[in-house]
Amino acid sequence: MHFLPSLTILALSLPIALGIDQFNPSYISWYTTPANNFTSTLPIGNGRLGAAIWGTAIENVTLNENSIWSGPFINRVNPNAYGALWPVRSLLAEGNITQGGEVTLDNMVGIPDSPQSYSALGSLRLDFGHEEAGISNYTRDLNLRTGVVGVEYVYRGVGYRREYVASYPDGVVAVRLSANRTGSVDVVCSVERDRYVVGNTATVVDGEGVLALTANSTDQAGPIRFTAEARIVTDGGRIMSNGTSVVARGASAVDIFFDTETSYRYAHQAKWEAEVKRKLDAARNSGYAAVKANAIADYSALSQRVDLNLGSSGSAGNLPTDTRLVNFRSDPDSDPELASLMFNFGRHSLISSSRATDSPALPANLQGLWNQDFDPAWGGRFTIDINLEMNYWPAEVANLADTFSPFIDLMDIVQVRGLDVAQSMYHCHNGGYVLHHNTDLWGDAAPVDNGTTWTMWPMGAAWLSANLIEHYRFTRDETILRERIWPLLQSAARFYSCYLFPFEGYYSTGPSISPEAAFIVPEDMTIAGNEEGIDIAPTMDNSLLYELFQSVIETCRILQINTTDCTNATSYLAKIKPPQIGSSGRILEWRLDYEEADPGHRHMSPIFGLFPGYQMAPLVNKTLATAAEAFLNWRIAHGSGSTGWSRTWTMNLYARLFNGDQVWNHTQIYLQRFPSPNLWNTDSGPDTVFQIDGNFGFTSGIAEMLLQSYEKVHLLPALPAAVPTGHVLGLVARGNFVVDMIWEGGALTQANITSQSGSSLDIRVQGGLNFTVNGEEYTGPIETDSGKIYAVVPVSR
Ligand SMILES: *[C@@H]1O[C@H](CO)[C@@H](O)[C@H](O)[C@H]1NC(C)=O
Ligand SMILES: *[C@@H]1O[C@H](CO)[C@@H](O)[C@H](O)[C@H]1NC(C)=O
Ligand SMILES: *[C@@H]1O[C@H](CO)[C@@H](O)[C@H](O)[C@H]1NC(C)=O
Ligand SMILES: *[C@@H]1O[C@H](CO)[C@@H](O)[C@H](O)[C@H]1NC(C)=O
Ligand SMILES: *[C@@H]1O[C@H](CO)[C@@H](O)[C@H](O)[C@H]1NC(C)=O
Ligand SMILES: *[C@@H]1O[C@H](CO)[C@@H](O)[C@H](O)[C@H]1NC(C)=O
Ligand SMILES: *[C@@H]1O[C@H](CO)[C@@H](O)[C@H](O)[C@H]1NC(C)=O
Ligand SMILES: *[C@@H]1O[C@H](CO)[C@@H](O)[C@H](O)[C@H]1NC(C)=O
Ligand SMILES: *[C@@H]1O[C@H](CO)[C@@H](O)[C@H](O)[C@H]1NC(C)=O
Ligand SMILES: *[C@@H]1O[C@H](CO)[C@@H](O)[C@H](O)[C@H]1NC(C)=O
Ligand SMILES: *[C@@H]1O[C@H](CO)[C@@H](O)[C@H](O)[C@H]1NC(C)=O
Ligand SMILES: *[C@@H]1O[C@H](CO)[C@@H](O)[C@H](O)[C@H]1NC(C)=O
Repeated sequence: MHFLPSLTILALSLPIALGIDQFNPSYISWYTTPANNFTSTLPIGNGRLGAAIWGTAIENVTLNENSIWSGPFINRVNPNAYGALWPVRSLLAEGNITQGGEVTLDNMVGIPDSPQSYSALGSLRLDFGHEEAGISNYTRDLNLRTGVVGVEYVYRGVGYRREYVASYPDGVVAVRLSANRTGSVDVVCSVERDRYVVGNTATVVDGEGVLALTANSTDQAGPIRFTAEARIVTDGGRIMSNGTSVVARGASAVDIFFDTETSYRYAHQAKWEAEVKRKLDAARNSGYAAVKANAIADYSALSQRVDLNLGSSGSAGNLPTDTRLVNFRSDPDSDPELASLMFNFGRHSLISSSRATDSPALPANLQGLWNQDFDPAWGGRFTIDINLEMNYWPAEVANLADTFSPFIDLMDIVQVRGLDVAQSMYHCHNGGYVLHHNTDLWGDAAPVDNGTTWTMWPMGAAWLSANLIEHYRFTRDETILRERIWPLLQSAARFYSCYLFPFEGYYSTGPSISPEAAFIVPEDMTIAGNEEGIDIAPTMDNSLLYELFQSVIETCRILQINTTDCTNATSYLAKIKPPQIGSSGRILEWRLDYEEADPGHRHMSPIFGLFPGYQMAPLVNKTLATAAEAFLNWRIAHGSGSTGWSRTWTMNLYARLFNGDQVWNHTQIYLQRFPSPNLWNTDSGPDTVFQIDGNFGFTSGIAEMLLQSYEKVHLLPALPAAVPTGHVLGLVARGNFVVDMIWEGGALTQANITSQSGSSLDIRVQGGLNFTVNGEEYTGPIETDSGKIYAVVPVSR
């Protein structure tokens, strides 16, 4: 087992016992009954293929491939859009708010109003002929150190085991079915799908079973077409097929290798089927044991970079995960390791749903890549007014920067579409691209859906740009900055230097919204008392522009560029309206002190500048941080945090405010209300819609509580009183530092900071403790050497 080299030094001061093979309540999600619905399954994935394992008597594995979406690219730009732009601006400027909104929706919404949706593949059905009533000693588990799922039980005195791995290096999902008595595995295998099936056959070729499904994603024109194939290899016994199922009898073990390839990545059926064959031949030739070993080596190289300990749960942690979730509702303090398990599950979800796979790779969508529906909630799309961004909040800080490249791949696709939309909707021809609040696998950049509070938001590229620059700030990878990130930042900023219009002395957006909130039209505007969303220059837009232009200026400096892009960024930055503070002391959501239709709204858009932005962060601007805190407290007091992702955004925001006790309160409330039995985030409770964003927001929130780095490498900035003792190894700070920390009695014991890029290191410990670095009193920023470890020890008082 590998750990960071720095741990060996750390371990001298406080040894940590970490076992991989024994049961660990922070790393094993397990159950004593099979899944009874999708949100109880155990999800694995290799960044492209997803498998959600039910563990039922007749096994059901819900399969996914991340490029199976409902259909082709559609150019949805409304031809009336540009004609409406300036009239709407005038209406809004004159206070004719309702009319401005109506003209926007009548003329600027995409036609049709939705892009494509993520879609289902099918399921692998494995019938062992085992009566449910005869099954005993049943367990199933997902190991978050190895990525392996196991299902075990006893049937008629024989011990059965099913094992599942999703392999990134081999590009397949592999299954081993075994028993502890020779010749005891009987299984009927089939791939099931109800819609748009072109062919579904079972054959036996050279003693091996082959299940081959070809299908379309829709019956409309231009479907995604795909071929899914499972190879079934038996150890002993007999194998046969009846045309629709492959049947193995009397085997000692049965191995299954699965792949699917689609028309999204390959132009012709012969090409994608050749790729299926290539991957499956290779996996089959390596054999299950080698495929599993490769998969574990790859997965654990990522998963084991970080180890989190927020305290021990004792016996409460030894119960099955679904029982722990129920117990946590009444007794949250007895199981701190449930928070660690959830943190690790977030990392698992990113490792499993976002990898540099065959090009173009696709990032984690609203459901990561696990989906059983032909028409999933919100299309299972890439939603841009919080969700896709939140998916990647933990990527760098939780030491998974490798998972970020699919995000950039998608941005490249979006940028090309967004250039067209910028030209046709906004008549911007300067190389700028625009994106609204959703996109699909084709990079659809036109406005989505048709509503006052979400559709008309030309800020998608600005927000996604914030994730892009963060990737550089953490990794210090100048090649990616120059070659991949800069062209995207440049194009995003160019759009705004065409699109923004002068209004009351500032460059302003409009028509736009504060996602997805509404205000009450005031007395001096028309129509007073209406609830509207569309206006000029909501606070979030200004904050997004502030961060975007800052990113451009920062990149110009790093890459030593001095073009109009750079000078424009400086001049535009000076003319973006700063955040306004209302008479009540809160950051204002809109350009005026409108009354909010829902003061407890789930979106925290107006304080984007607190997290994930910096404009309102306490080490940057204390005044704004105080007003952002007042805003946050107000939202929460009125019932915000109502969705899983909203609650986890709250964790991150209180962390930025150095309020560890609030972070912990929202961590506990999150765990009490939102996770489904398999730990997936839900919209508003276990019986509601699964959406992965909150899982990632949770992991990010815990990391932000322990380590921040927007101005300084800030150790334990928001440690809750309820977590006095613990450690975290392997988090990453901006500047590309790996940080290991141990704390006791609410105070840092020691931190080891490994410099990976030789950046300058400015350190702050908790509320401003004095400390030594490698034995010498710390007085200010250190120029570090790459590869060197800097040991931080507080000076005892
Ligand atoms: C809003 O503007 C429209 C178009 O100019 C005008 O017809 C309408 O009377 C205005 N509404 C109000 C209530 O002023
Ligand atoms: C959007 O809704 C408005 C009414 O609010 C309607 O006039 C318009 O046609 C709709 N657009 C689309 C593309 O459905
Ligand atoms: C099943 O589990 C029970 C309780 O853990 C144990 O006593 C029993 O030996 C197990 N039976 C088998 C067949 O493994
Ligand atoms: C197989 O496993 C079962 C359940 O644990 C156990 O009762 C049985 O003795 C085992 N048989 C062999 C041959 O190991
Ligand atoms: C699948 O799509 C192809 C290509 O569009 C089409 O020719 C074929 O008829 C479709 N088959 C089914 C079953 O929809
Ligand atoms: C093949 O066998 C399976 C399982 O017994 C059965 O459900 C299916 O109907 C059979 N197919 C044919 C074509 O007989
Ligand atoms: C198997 O999984 C599919 C896809 O998730 C689901 O629709 C179906 O209901 C499941 N079947 C059973 C018997 O649970
Ligand atoms: C710079 O801003 C001007 C408008 O102020 C715009 O016309 C021009 O396209 C911008 N140039 C670039 C490279 O963004
Ligand atoms: C960039 O160029 C402008 C005008 O050419 C000049 O005024 C400015 O000082 C330059 N900035 C840097 C950082 O070189
Ligand atoms: C903080 O922000 C406010 C509002 O934009 C501004 O007036 C003030 O100068 C800022 N303070 C600092 C220290 O930057
Ligand atoms: C969180 O804080 C609220 C308000 O103080 C309190 O009512 C609630 O019990 C706390 N919840 C938990 C789980 O600590
Ligand atoms: C799935 O089943 C679990 C366990 O019975 C339950 O808590 C949950 O509400 C169910 N989810 C849905 C979406 O029905």
